[in-house]
Amino acid sequence: MAYAEAFFRLSRIGGSHHIYAHADTPELVNLQNVDGKAKPHHAGILVREGTLDGVPVKLGGIGGVKTHPQAQGRGYASAALRRAATALHDDHHVAFSLLVCQAHLLPFYGRLGWLPFSGRLVVEQPGGAIIFTINRPMVLPGLLSAPQEGVIDLRGLPW
Ligand SMILES: CC(C)(COP(=O)(O)OP(=O)(O)OC[C@H]1O[C@@H](n2cnc3c(N)ncnc32)[C@H](O)[C@@H]1OP(=O)(O)O)[C@@H](O)C(=O)NCCC(=O)NCCS
Repeated sequence: MAYAEAFFRLSRIGGSHHIYAHADTPELVNLQNVDGKAKPHHAGILVREGTLDGVPVKLGGIGGVKTHPQAQGRGYASAALRRAATALHDDHHVAFSLLVCQAHLLPFYGRLGWLPFSGRLVVEQPGGAIIFTINRPMVLPGLLSAPQEGVIDLRGLPW
């Protein structure tokens, strides 16, 4: 936290989130202050209205999963992902959730209950709707079971 404060100006505080700004850059720095130290891990959640095989569904999303290299291997990301899944299910009542990851992390997410999605994932890009092929989609059950095939349309940009 002290490092951020030496270079950036504290712009606002929301809960434990401290948002820092600098006059010379449009980028913001968002650190979670835990007893004066920046939290070394993050997992973001979002909720999106999409479709499954053309039928509207409330989708949960996970993104921005990361742990500082010096804090990896201690279970932080696993704990954050379990907490995120609980929030998406219990607080947001999503039909199911989706994330995309590199192939080498399929077993990691698989141990946390995520299933590979082998259908088509449709996302918006500036030129129109395309099939997302950059990373591997995985799904987690919510109020519905997790679909492993078919067409999921995010009806918007990927996250
Ligand atoms: C993937 C990542 C978030 C895991 O964070 P973490 O807090 O260390 O995770 P946990 O301690 O809960 O679990 C560790 C497990 O992650 C998996 N893992 C981490 N890095 C991996 C890699 N490069 N390849 C395969 N599995 C990996 C392993 O299963 C590991 O278990 P192990 O320690 O017994 O080998 C972290 O390595 C990271 O930030 N990586 C860079 C960013 C990234 O790839 N994010 C995921 C975007 S989808």
